[in-house]
This record gives sequence, C-alpha cells and structure tokens, in this order.
Amino acid sequence: MLDTLNHVAIIMDGNGRWAKSQNKKRTFGHYHGANNVRDIALHANELGIKVLTLYAFSTENWKRPLEEVEYLMKLPAVFFDRFMDELMQNQIKVECIGHFHRLAPQTRKVLQRAIEQSKNNTKMKLVFAMDYGSRDEIVEAMKKYAEDVKNGKENNLVEADVAKYLMTSDYGDVDLLIRTSNEKRISNFLLWQIAYAELIFVDKPWPLFTSQDLDTCILEYTQRDRRFGGLKK
Ligand code: FPP
Repeated sequence: MLDTLNHVAIIMDGNGRWAKSQNKKRTFGHYHGANNVRDIALHANELGIKVLTLYAFSTENWKRPLEEVEYLMKLPAVFFDRFMDELMQNQIKVECIGHFHRLAPQTRKVLQRAIEQSKNNTKMKLVFAMDYGSRDEIVEAMKKYAEDVKNGKENNLVEADVAKYLMTSDYGDVDLLIRTSNEKRISNFLLWQIAYAELIFVDKPWPLFTSQDLDTCILEYTQRDRRFGGLKK
C-alpha cells in the first residue's frame, strides 16, 4: 500500500434512501449497510490500510425515531455475531470512538467484548464512531486540557498537542475521507483530523459501495497532488 495512505474514514450515507427505493424499511438499509462494513473492512485490510474509521452513529442520530435508534443500537450485536470470526482470522483490531457511556448497556457490552477479543490483533484498526460528534470531541478535549492546566501538567498548548486530547489520538490525521450517497457535507465528523484529507464524494448509497469502488477512490487519491499548503516539489 502507498505509504501516504494510513487512515481512511467513511461517512456511510444512504442506507435509508436505498431501502426506501426498494420499498423496504430504513432498518433494512442499515442491515445491508452493516453487511457492507464486513466487505469493505476486509478489503481495506488486504490493501494494507492501517486505520479505517466508520461513522456508525452520530451524536445527532439520537433525534431519529425510536425504532430506528433501537435498531442501530442492536446492529453491533448482529454484525459481530456474523463477522467477528472473520475479523479475527484477518487480524483486524476493533476499536471505538465516541461517548461510550451513553450507548445502551447491551450495545456497550457487545462492543467491549469485540474490542477485548481483538486487542492483540496486529493488522488494521477498524474504528467504529458510535455516539460520536466532532464538536463534542473538541469540547471534551478542551475540558481535559483545562484539567491538565489546573494540575500543572500543561501550560503552553501548541497545535501539535491538540491531537493528543482527541479520541483519535492513536490514529493520526485522516488521509482520505469518503462519503457515499452524493451528499457533500462533513456532518460533524473528524473536523480537526480532516484538515488536509482528500475528500471524495461517491454517488452510490453505502449498501451498494463495493471493494472496487474503494479501489477507484484510492486511485483518485493517488492522482491528487497533496501539498499540505506548501508548493509542489
Ligand atoms: C447514515 O445513512 C447511516 C447511519 C446513520 C448508520 C450507518 C451504520 C451502518 C452502515 C452500520 C454500522 C455497523 C456497525 C456494526 C455499528 P442514512 O440511513 O441516514 O441515509 P439516508 O440519508 O438515506 O437516510
């Protein structure tokens, strides 16, 4: 894999609209969306990507109808029951970012079990953003920093230090952000971390996004000229 492509993040949009287009309930779309997580994660791992961060449930998603929220809370159990063995065989390490403590207790338990079971795996980190919002993350980071200042551990914050206080401190900046379903928004996802990411918006809804589509996005990424604000070499 390219040395410059470590961290890929995906906004898995369009499950609900895809389901409606099939005359099915929105939850049908989420079910197929979760199945697709398996395909894309295995493929990304094969490509040698180090971190794949997926926007699975945002801090704003609590506003959805109760039936949908309840279904999304059950999805990790459905997903890991079916695919944990494969994730283990492929040395994929499951991690989470977000407000863990606000998730339903059963959801938390299922995620904790997957994290624990896979913690010694050595290949790609598959990071589920659950009850995650970037502004919320930044507020939490500021609170932690204020605490460190109070305790005399910090007093001169510089830009490079901020990442240490974010939930993604182990993952580094995002190199490539993909959003499916033809919406061109960031929706409060990894705002600090995408400062210099390449952004790719794909027309297809998430359940129809294939490994080949990921390859196409990566090809486009390789053709972009990342200058990080500097000049071309
Ligand atoms: C946004 O699309 C997607 C979500 C709110 C949920 C995405 C979650 C998954 C694909 C599964 C995650 C898997 C695990 C194991 C946690 P939308 O349905 O809101 O799209 P719409 O704009 O068409 O309504």
